[in-house]
Amino acid sequence: MPIHRVTLAKMARVFSGIQPSGDLHLGNLLGALMNWVNHQEEHEAVYCIVDLHALTLPQDPEELRTNTLELAQLLMAVGLNPERCTLFAQSHVPEHSQLAWLMECTVSYGELSRMTAFKDKSDRSDFISAGLFTYPALQAADILLYDTDLVPVGDDQRQHLEITRDIAERFNSRFGETFVVPQHVIPAAGARVMDLQHPERKMSKSQDSVNGTINVLEPPDSIRKKIKRAVTDSDGEVRFDFAKKAGVSNLLSILGAATGTDPNKVAESFDRYGDLKTATADAAIELLLPIQQRFAELQADPSETRRLLKVGAEKAQEVASQTLNRAKQNCGLLEA
Ligand code: TRP
Repeated sequence: MPIHRVTLAKMARVFSGIQPSGDLHLGNLLGALMNWVNHQEEHEAVYCIVDLHALTLPQDPEELRTNTLELAQLLMAVGLNPERCTLFAQSHVPEHSQLAWLMECTVSYGELSRMTAFKDKSDRSDFISAGLFTYPALQAADILLYDTDLVPVGDDQRQHLEITRDIAERFNSRFGETFVVPQHVIPAAGARVMDLQHPERKMSKSQDSVNGTINVLEPPDSIRKKIKRAVTDSDGEVRFDFAKKAGVSNLLSILGAATGTDPNKVAESFDRYGDLKTATADAAIELLLPIQQRFAELQADPSETRRLLKVGAEKAQEVASQTLNRAKQNCGLLEA
């Protein structure tokens, strides 16, 4: 007998995942993570550190372990509260890899071949794992396990969300209502944070632009130095216009996001680039210092972080195990 999904009147459930790939930068914080923090209040939020996805590219084992623990501490330092959201590591909930297999058998080779993220990553790597190719099937499992309504991720994840929806619909039409078909929401409130040296491209750790990137754990004097050296332009006018004035607009965007103000409004308070830079550096430091202090406290007690992750994994598993059972039964696997 197929098991039908029961729909309960409930808060919308939000799910998002983040790879444990070393440090976070200001772009991650202002673009995505501030929204994650806000979603805890309005929604039922589930956040996953996707360590299994990290394995799709070569990893140093010790580094991966440290990065996973530190990312959990950073996320909590930024404001994710394990009492208000479900925060856990993907590998702690084995349902993810189990459902991923069912997803792999529901998606086609052709569909996976069209993923641009796969093409980009495989072009840059000399060992192309099968896991890199089936990455979207695991991502679909992440999302579908929690009957997720909303997935707040950037535009770069659009294709992965589309394929997740296609997989859910295909599985449902083959085997009966099993999964919620999730919606992609591009976070509206997220700031666009660009590289300080190359303001035409996103701040990103993979670009290897040390002076263009501000790390969440960066010391204040270094933040100040990098913002002082940020690329602007020569017309001297403080105006928010990314198309014509990318460097200045980036500073306005950072200052606006850090202080919760519209960047157009921020622009009205400045006549000189120097003053804008000073204010942007002050705001970035003021935003990051308390995060750095909380991170240091959490880092001092790794066993407490591990305990919190374990509690998170148990909470996640309560939902995930039911969804996995439903999917296994509906597609014809014999109950043990
Ligand atoms: N692919 C996402 C990224 O690179 C990470 C991710 C894995 C994810 N599973 C997810 C994001 C589920 C949202 C939902 O950023």
